Amino acid sequence: MTQQADDLSAPRVRGDAGIFGSWVQHFEQNEHAHAKADAAIPFADRSDIPDSVRNPLIESVRRFQLGESGDGEQLLRKAARAGDLEYLRAAELFVAEEQQHAALLLRLLGYLDGQPMRRHWSDAVFVRLRRLMGLRTELMVLTVAEVVALSYYGGLANAGPDRVVRAVAARIVADEHPHVRFQVDRLRAGFAGSRAGARALAFAFWWLTAVGATVVVAFDHGPLLDAIGYRRTRFIRDVLSDFAKVVAAVLRR
Ligand SMILES: [Fe+2]
Ligand SMILES: [Fe+2]
Repeated sequence: MTQQADDLSAPRVRGDAGIFGSWVQHFEQNEHAHAKADAAIPFADRSDIPDSVRNPLIESVRRFQLGESGDGEQLLRKAARAGDLEYLRAAELFVAEEQQHAALLLRLLGYLDGQPMRRHWSDAVFVRLRRLMGLRTELMVLTVAEVVALSYYGGLANAGPDRVVRAVAARIVADEHPHVRFQVDRLRAGFAGSRAGARALAFAFWWLTAVGATVVVAFDHGPLLDAIGYRRTRFIRDVLSDFAKVVAAVLRR
C-alpha cells in the first residue's frame, strides 16, 4: 500500500558540485515543481467526506501539521556550527520544504473544516530533548520522523478519501523520499570515522527510537488508519522495513 523508500544505496548523478552542493541544486529545482503542483490542488472544491472518515482525518492531520511546522532553529544552529556552508544552505532549503508541508496541511485543514493545533505534549518533550542532542543525534531522531512520514503520506496518497487529500499527501510524500536520502547522506558522513562500538550504540538507540515512535504513531493515528483501511500492523511493518534500509545505508561500512 505504501511507497517504500527508494533504493538508498543507488548511486546518484552528481555534477561538479559536492554532495551537499547537489542537494542545494535539488532543493532549488524543486521550488519550481512545487508551485505548479500546489496550484493544481483543487482546495476550492466542496468536501463531502463522511464524518466517520473526516473526524479522524482532521485529528491526525492537525498533529502532523504541528509536527511539520517547526522553524528548524535547533537544527540550523547545529548545522552552522558544523562549519560546512553547502550543507547549511541545503539544510535551510530542507527546512523551508517542511514549512511548505505545514502550510499545505493548514490549507487541507481549512478544506476539511478543521482547526490547527497550537501545541501537543509530545512536541514540548521533543523540543527539550533536542536541545541536549548534537547534530548527528538530532538527525537520527528527525530521520525516524521522515521515515514514518513515508508510510503515513504514502498511505493517504493511495487511499485518502478524496482527490484533494490524496493530492496533498502525494505532493508531500514526493518530498519526503529525497528528505530521507538527504539525512542519510549527512549521517553517513557523520559516522564515517566512527568505530564499531559507537556504531553499535547508535544502532541500538536508533532502533529503539524508531520502534517506539512507530508504535505510538500507529496507535495515536489508528482511527485514521482504520478509516482508510490501512492495518496498524501493516503500517508498523512498512515503516520499519523502510527504516531497516536507512540504518543499513548509514551504519554499514
Ligand atoms: Fe515534511
Ligand atoms: Fe521531511
